[in-house]
Amino acid sequence: MNLQACMTVLFVLLLAQAYANTEKVIFVSPPAVSITSSGPSFEQLHLPHITPKNSSLRLSLPAAFPSEKQSRGLDTWYMLRSLNPSQRYEVRVCWAATQPTNFWLDVYNTSHVFDTPDLIQKLAIFSEAQQTIERPQRTGSEALEESLLFLHVQAAADFFSTNRTLMNSPPAVDVELILDPYLASAFPRSLLPTAVYIVALAVGSWVLSGMIWKRLFSSTNKPHND
Ligand SMILES: *[C@@H]1O[C@H](CO)[C@@H](O)[C@H](O)[C@H]1NC(C)=O
Ligand SMILES: *[C@@H]1O[C@H](CO)[C@@H](O)[C@H](O)[C@H]1NC(C)=O
Ligand SMILES: *[C@@H]1O[C@H](CO)[C@@H](O)[C@H](O)[C@H]1NC(C)=O
Repeated sequence: MNLQACMTVLFVLLLAQAYANTEKVIFVSPPAVSITSSGPSFEQLHLPHITPKNSSLRLSLPAAFPSEKQSRGLDTWYMLRSLNPSQRYEVRVCWAATQPTNFWLDVYNTSHVFDTPDLIQKLAIFSEAQQTIERPQRTGSEALEESLLFLHVQAAADFFSTNRTLMNSPPAVDVELILDPYLASAFPRSLLPTAVYIVALAVGSWVLSGMIWKRLFSSTNKPHND
């Protein structure tokens, strides 16, 4: 690639950076676990679901300034369900650069959450708060076995303002959570159009600069007939 193409690619990347921030976690989905239709089910946790078919959630997430008790702000929990076992995925959170926030994303398998007192406690608090919100839930999937994970998102406001109202209760931050499978476990699927675009742009400007060079070269070498 020549210099011009490189600059174009850089410019496109910078432009994409300027408008939105992203934080992401990359993971390989666990083997399917069997889900008993009797007994307690994951539905009862009332967590929002993200699945490969319904792979993005737009949300207004509560944020708080870090405190001694909550060094990473406020917690929210989600379930990543109906995953393809042993596939590489990433989950991204995207938010506007105008709402400065620090995010931490973690994925945990079910046994990890249920065996870690700190996590199960945080999940229980969130789940309890969710019960009061009437949220239409997908009725349990038909599958008896499913690859699933918990997604733990922590959001801490990261700005300073002389406005006391804002400092006392930072506004909720608008985010999009996206589940993205990797193609051949190497490349996030949703970035494919961007990659194709950048390559097309690079090839296009390479061809164009070649043409310009040729024209410049031939015009400077043209014999002067005047
Ligand atoms: C995806 O999720 C949204 C919000 O939870 C829901 O309204 C919508 O019906 C879902 N779409 C599908 C195809 O399941
Ligand atoms: C769950 O996660 C823990 C910690 O990451 C890991 O040690 C364990 O093997 C995982 N269990 C399953 C069933 O994937
Ligand atoms: C502080 O911020 C709040 C919320 O954005 C706004 O309604 C209020 O007018 C602001 N107060 C001052 C003094 O700017």
